[in-house]
Amino acid sequence: MRLTFTIQRFNPEVDSSAHPQEIRLDVGRGMTVLDALIRIKQECDGSLALRYSCRSSICGSCAMTINGSEKLACRTSLRKELERHRQITVAPLRNFPVIKDLVVDMAPFWGKIRDVQPWLSPGSALPRAGGAHSHPEFHNVDACIMCGACVAACTVYEVSKGFAGPAALAKADRFLSDPREAGASTRARLSALQGEHGIWDCTRCNFCVEVCPKDVQPMEAIIRLRRASLDRGMTTTGGARHILGFTSLVEQQGHLNEALMPLKVVGLSPSRLLHILPLGIKMLLKGKIPNPLGHAFPGLSHLKALIRRAKRPMPPV
Ligand code: SF4
Ligand code: SF4
Ligand code: FES
Repeated sequence: MRLTFTIQRFNPEVDSSAHPQEIRLDVGRGMTVLDALIRIKQECDGSLALRYSCRSSICGSCAMTINGSEKLACRTSLRKELERHRQITVAPLRNFPVIKDLVVDMAPFWGKIRDVQPWLSPGSALPRAGGAHSHPEFHNVDACIMCGACVAACTVYEVSKGFAGPAALAKADRFLSDPREAGASTRARLSALQGEHGIWDCTRCNFCVEVCPKDVQPMEAIIRLRRASLDRGMTTTGGARHILGFTSLVEQQGHLNEALMPLKVVGLSPSRLLHILPLGIKMLLKGKIPNPLGHAFPGLSHLKALIRRAKRPMPPV
């Protein structure tokens, strides 16, 4: 079968911007997108730049945008893409600077990984030779192959390149689960993630989970980091206050009180209150301020009992 591939091309030596190029190729059964790109390079245009190595979904180097989503080209079947999209478009990973054609600069990605210090802290308790082995639960974050697909799909990273990003935060979570690190080291790791661009910047859009080829589920890792932070009393960030305010309002009133929520997040600081005053006025005009004399939420006592039960610590397995 003869297929048309639309490939985004960009050569910084001659192009001022990226442009699509259509290339036709005879393809056979069972081919992947990477197989086709390698043949295009060998048979049609040797100047096409792409990155790959293992061809087995192990090295993470062939991640690119295929028909609009982040995928490993070596594990993306041409047939399935055609069945679903009726076309094959290929472009470099979004959110990364393009070096040439499908090759992106991974330096910012590695910088974010380095920032979370992906190594055991000095003084970590190393297991004794011949001693009893513990079996840490890494929640599959150790399966990450550093392909960058999650960062390319991240809606926060798209608008804020300072954000640590899903891959680096998943890596941080892997060390949180390591029994060789404990106490002060864990606390220091979590403290470093509280500020701007850290764990509270994630909007939980779930795209990183959808595109990850290794089921790392970075968003779940971020939620674990948030829980661990709250458990250790790290509650001063706007994100932490939002979660605590949300749950306490639902627990007290049975529903989210949108009038009180901003107060829960900013606290009682006069300058911050002044900052959110225009928002309060807008909410009032749009009828978003609930009637303080309204009826109590029916079944509130049942809801409170449920929440109390959910908060009870789980019995040891
Ligand atoms: S869930 Fe969070 S980390 Fe994942 S893609 Fe969305 S904003 Fe980014
Ligand atoms: S978390 Fe998944 S998508 Fe992100 S770099 Fe690792 S393997 Fe790739
Ligand atoms: S070539 Fe290694 S993951 Fe695709």
